Amino acid sequence: MSVREITVVGNPILREPTRPVDPEELAGPEVQQLIDDLIDTRRAANGAGIAANQIGSDLRVAIAEVDGVNPRYPYKPPIPRMVMVNPVIEPIGAEMVEINEGCLSVPDLRGNVMRHVEVRIQYLDREGVEHDEVKRGLTAGTIQHEIDHLDGKLFLDRVTDTASLATWDEFERHQRDEFVERITRFVERVGS
Ligand code: NI
Repeated sequence: MSVREITVVGNPILREPTRPVDPEELAGPEVQQLIDDLIDTRRAANGAGIAANQIGSDLRVAIAEVDGVNPRYPYKPPIPRMVMVNPVIEPIGAEMVEINEGCLSVPDLRGNVMRHVEVRIQYLDREGVEHDEVKRGLTAGTIQHEIDHLDGKLFLDRVTDTASLATWDEFERHQRDEFVERITRFVERVGS
């Protein structure tokens, strides 16, 4: 088990697009160790996901996982662990939803971003098995956030109204109730 230090905004590695993993390398100890470290680091930090460049690697690997009630995002439905190697994403349909997001690499800040409600995602898992899946709702939002990381983007780049930016305490005080009520209705409508 290895919990790694999380890179934060300002570190240039978060702004560099990651490079695809050579399928030959995927089974090797370096990439497998990276995946184990992502799993451990995400869990220790209570993120809903984590991308390789958030722990200093330039490989196109990310994790999404919500096990039980996530203390940072208690309204998020569970996501069985997804280890995404070389993910490719495309939106399905035109529907968008405004989601309040935070990020382990942007300490103590949250803000509203627009995300596609439904996406198709193709990726390899850690065994090299190909997946081709459709994800919806908050789960689709989490996956878009993680793949943005792999493309060198942060949620800050997608904040539509900078007046929505808030520390976690101020979010709790002034935005949480309204957001959770709206997003709970959304999850009931679209599923996840
Ligand atoms: Ni993030």
